[in-house]
Amino acid sequence: MENQNKMYNINDDIAYTMISEEEIQALVKKVAAAIDHDYPDPHKKLLLLCILKGSVVFMGDLMKTIKRPVEIDFMKVSSYGSGTVSSGNVNILLDIHRGDMQDLDIVIIEDIIDSGKTMKYLTQYLKNKGARSIRVAALLDKPSRRKVDFEADYIGVEIEDEFVVGYGLDYDERYRALPYIGILKPEVYTK
Ligand code: PRP
Repeated sequence: MENQNKMYNINDDIAYTMISEEEIQALVKKVAAAIDHDYPDPHKKLLLLCILKGSVVFMGDLMKTIKRPVEIDFMKVSSYGSGTVSSGNVNILLDIHRGDMQDLDIVIIEDIIDSGKTMKYLTQYLKNKGARSIRVAALLDKPSRRKVDFEADYIGVEIEDEFVVGYGLDYDERYRALPYIGILKPEVYTK
């Protein structure tokens, strides 16, 4: 039977690939090796804290690549809408609840740092909760977009101010599942 409808392929919405799957895996290895280097004592708890949703793919690859033992947890924050805890324009939508904060070295896992507001707020928030140490690993960094003073400890790669999707990053909740990072065709968001 002939299929009348051409199957929709999200790859067709991408103008070009900015960072290929292979390049991303090299960045993951670089960040994982730096984390392994900086946290050599396997008996000290290291918590990889994934910031939902965009960081979930980076988190998955990173936790498989890091060789030392890690624990994982998840938070969700939002600059928009309403949350339970609010400060400035960052809302905590999903928090971590642990009784061992003072025994935790935390590495926050982020897909991208833009204005820096989310990470500036979250690192202070976790310090106030009593974490032993806090660092930030971001796959992508857009330093030209900074509105507050913030620098990540581990960065995959710096990029220009272009709107990127894939590998966790979305446009209108789509494209997160792409295994590479790409630039959307303009007609996708001008429709
Ligand atoms: C993105 C990204 C960071 C934040 C960075 O999340 O994942 O958490 O924005 O922006 P900032 O440096 O300007 O604070 P987003 O709010 O798009 O949520 P998502 O990860 O669920 O897509």
